[in-house]
Amino acid sequence: MNRPKRVAITGAAGQIGYQLCFRIASGDLLGPNQPVILQLIEIAPALDALKGVVMELEDAAFPLLAGVEATADLETGFKDADYAILVGAKPRGPGMERADLLSENGKIFGPQGRALNAVASRDVKVLVVGNPANTNALIAQANAPDLPKENFTAMTRLDHNRALAQLAARTGIHHTSIRQMTIWGNHSSTQYPDLHHTLVAGKPAMEAEGVDASWYESDFIPTVQQRGAAIIKARGASSAASAASAAIDHIRDWALGTDGDDWVSMAVPSDGSYGIEPGVIYSFPCTCENGQWSIVQGLEINEFSRARMDATDQELREERAAVESLL
Ligand code: NAI
Repeated sequence: MNRPKRVAITGAAGQIGYQLCFRIASGDLLGPNQPVILQLIEIAPALDALKGVVMELEDAAFPLLAGVEATADLETGFKDADYAILVGAKPRGPGMERADLLSENGKIFGPQGRALNAVASRDVKVLVVGNPANTNALIAQANAPDLPKENFTAMTRLDHNRALAQLAARTGIHHTSIRQMTIWGNHSSTQYPDLHHTLVAGKPAMEAEGVDASWYESDFIPTVQQRGAAIIKARGASSAASAASAAIDHIRDWALGTDGDDWVSMAVPSDGSYGIEPGVIYSFPCTCENGQWSIVQGLEINEFSRARMDATDQELREERAAVESLL
């Protein structure tokens, strides 16, 4: 058996955290030969609830679970972490403007970045799930100057998976036969789900049965963008199991590699590819190999896509400007 990998999770007693703990402990993150130690982090008022999660993890007797720690102290929680999934965040309260939300979250992700910088593995791979995820990742990254910048990412995999599900339902082709889906930009309503490079059973998605420009623009794009709100309306609570599943997909593919000629959507620090502002954490089509992601290059961008990619870039630049004092 391999040396256990340490996986830190913030907000571990919340909805998404509760799902993540059990999926990771059962081997879904790093495979059936990789033991894990869970390092669960919560704010002090939630430590009792977290104790309950730890008790349940013990009771599940997972063969791959080599240890569980629960703490409200960031430097204890992130110590030697190989992976950090940052889920805990401040939700938008009544009357709160986006700028207030950004700065409240800055108070969480700044200290978390500093703690990761101080004690985590020098190659810790960080995934920010807590919203506003892209800019929270930027804040954590800016506060961790000794860690590789490219190790700070944010989650758009749920949007990617939602897009696969919508296209599968429309075409009647199972989502495992759909490849090269792309979500560009911010994990917000400006995200741009792009089908122009997607293949359905090996053929261009835009020419697939049931797909035309009208469905794509008026149905598919808004449905993917607003799927989170639709889940809240139906379930009375926000997406949790699907969000945890997407977080696992994101880290697993980053760590173990993407499949053949397929790619995934990951919000990563922009290097200026496709004319996107360098530095913002922007969702691109990415392939992964040997624990490194790279942005898929050379895709042709038409006028329709360009306008949408630029709009979500603009939103990320504005978010970055709003938190400038925290960077
Ligand atoms: P939740 O409210 O059930 O759980 C959040 C947990 O985080 C709570 O237990 C809370 O005590 C904890 N927490 C808050 N501040 C913390 C801090 N500073 N340190 C450690 N823990 C802290 O929320 P849920 O449903 O688990 O969602 C968590 C976040 O994920 C939200 O920001 C939500 O908007 C976001 N989200 C992001 C998605 C994405 O696709 N990027 C998809 C779905 C949710």
